[in-house]
Amino acid sequence: MNFRIAVLASGRGSNLRALIEARQRGELAADVVGVFSDKPDCGAIALAREQGIENLAIRPRDSPSREVFDEQLFSAVAAVQPDLIVCAGYMRLISEAAVRRCQGRMINIHPSLLPKYPGLDTHARALGAGDAEHGASVHVVIPALDSGPVLAQARIVIGAGDTPETLARRLLDREHPLLVATVGLIASGRLRLGADSATFDGAPLRQPLRLDEDNRLHAEVN
Ligand code: GRF
Repeated sequence: MNFRIAVLASGRGSNLRALIEARQRGELAADVVGVFSDKPDCGAIALAREQGIENLAIRPRDSPSREVFDEQLFSAVAAVQPDLIVCAGYMRLISEAAVRRCQGRMINIHPSLLPKYPGLDTHARALGAGDAEHGASVHVVIPALDSGPVLAQARIVIGAGDTPETLARRLLDREHPLLVATVGLIASGRLRLGADSATFDGAPLRQPLRLDEDNRLHAEVN
């Protein structure tokens, strides 16, 4: 049976599209089998419909609490029997119970070089700090926000003329291959997730894998 991915998203869905298109080009041995959201009108849900992918969006205001919302959403996620759950621009905090239910099987893509800049406004914060480099990280989801073991990163150089908008755009171009390559390694079994750790080719992953210019992930060599 093919490796099965469930995607959680709240926005335009360009990372979701990157996964679907990599699959269609034969570059990713994994199927997106469900898309789940807190925003019924978002681009990711529209894309899932267009592609005939099972989908569900629940409005938070239609749920009495975060726990009930997550119980409903994550029951639907479980029903598609995913091997991996990918948060790709899912902007809602996930309750601890729901994270625990999925721990070691859920990853998130975040637009910073974690542990730098968890949370929002990462591009402006990297610029404001005078950083020479910016980047994106794929990490294991744990109850603390943007804090689980970092699996892989893509880096870009910050230029003198960069603004938060140009950085966001340039970084997004690297996020897509980063997410596809990371999911590919997980689907192949080379990269294995634990609740608080990961292994790559059987050895503990001590530093994030790094995306090269050919869109392949490598262990960092120091
Ligand atoms: C990406 O920048 C991702 O890193 C962040 O939210 C954005 C989602 O973009 N978490 P998209 O909806 O996949 O286009």
